[in-house]
Amino acid sequence: MTLPSSDEIRARITGAARVRAFAYFAVEPADTADFAAAADSIAADRALLGEVAEVVAQLREGMGVPLTQTPARLPARFDPHDPDAPLTDRFFYPVAFVGALADALAYHRSRAIPDAASRAIFADLGRHLRIFERTFGQTGLHVQDWFALHLRGLIYDFGRLQGNLTELTGPAADLAAAAVPAPPGAMVIDTHIPDIGPLTPAEVDASFGRMSPFFARHFPELPPLRIAVCTSWLLDEQLQTLVPGSNIAAFGARWHPIGPPSDGDWSVRNFVFRRPDAPLDRLTGSSRLEQAVLKHWRSGAHLQVRTGWCETAHPQRDSIDFGILSTMSNEPTDDTYDIEEEETATDEGMPLRPGYDDANRPEPAESSSDD
Ligand SMILES: CC(C)(COP(=O)(O)OP(=O)(O)OC[C@H]1O[C@@H](n2cnc3c(N)ncnc32)[C@H](O)[C@@H]1OP(=O)(O)O)[C@@H](O)C(=O)NCCC(=O)NCCS
Repeated sequence: MTLPSSDEIRARITGAARVRAFAYFAVEPADTADFAAAADSIAADRALLGEVAEVVAQLREGMGVPLTQTPARLPARFDPHDPDAPLTDRFFYPVAFVGALADALAYHRSRAIPDAASRAIFADLGRHLRIFERTFGQTGLHVQDWFALHLRGLIYDFGRLQGNLTELTGPAADLAAAAVPAPPGAMVIDTHIPDIGPLTPAEVDASFGRMSPFFARHFPELPPLRIAVCTSWLLDEQLQTLVPGSNIAAFGARWHPIGPPSDGDWSVRNFVFRRPDAPLDRLTGSSRLEQAVLKHWRSGAHLQVRTGWCETAHPQRDSIDFGILSTMSNEPTDDTYDIEEEETATDEGMPLRPGYDDANRPEPAESSSDD
């Protein structure tokens, strides 16, 4: 693993490069001062700069490689409940992601992914910084593994849903029992539901409809991707009776369950109440879901996380051939990014090719001198 120099990292996390990165990450004013102060402190600390360089090098090395093949190695640096956790720990990973952004953008451009699509997915960081404060009452970030997907060019935004490239995993018997129309190890789209408002079925349909054409266009070496998977509390069948007729119930009903459920109480405390570690008697809530969940728990019952699969919006099952790596899909695309943007991506000097290497990486702003 070749480490970027301290000068290169410093140039990326300070000055104009940082301002540009904050715009890509949609950092909100409430986080800007702490985030910038942490970046300045790290830029002035040789040891911390070196640690950021290691993270950047690791993300570079994993660019485009599914986490199922090379997991993220981004250990926690602080306890999110600790009010005395230093700013440089609370923002260590966000600063490292600012340091890694140029590599991820170069990878996007190498696949002709439009700038608007890059901005749409990187804005997830700004959103998660706000969620952290909502949850723990201070600024910072503790879901750094999640952002390995973003900084390794694996996850993209499809409007209401996000989807990342992954391999179908799980015991072969479970996959067969769930009649998943893909073999273990096949590339599939892992689906995520950002906290951005109602999950209307129409918006979900529209998002699914964008996934296959996007991956066909920008990852043409992959076979057509028409199988989505999802692991979430939203797939718990009990929600059909807890919140009948809701968006949540409609979303859950789309999926064919795979394998046994796992404990979902923590997930619901986190995603619904934003109090992941609070005891039941400290939780309150007025919405239909919160009321139903609290009653459910008080009765001694539990919620579950489930994995499921479904087809994305273009179920042309006959053409699925997971054994053959097709070159370019001929299917019409309804990708919403227009062709002008596509041309801008290639006009910037980034070649249109499905790879990523050093030739694509932007030059460091300064030469290396202190390493
Ligand atoms: C998934 C999500 C978008 C669904 O929102 P939605 O479309 O508004 O949900 P529904 O319309 O089905 O909601 C039914 C009821 O539950 C309430 N509800 C839904 N999600 C809620 C949440 N996260 N917290 C509190 N109440 C919630 C709604 O307000 C509604 O109650 P009401 O009729 O009293 O207003 C929302 O729960 C959310 O943003 N969750 C966080 C992200 C998440 O969980 N992602 C998956 C991670 S694995």
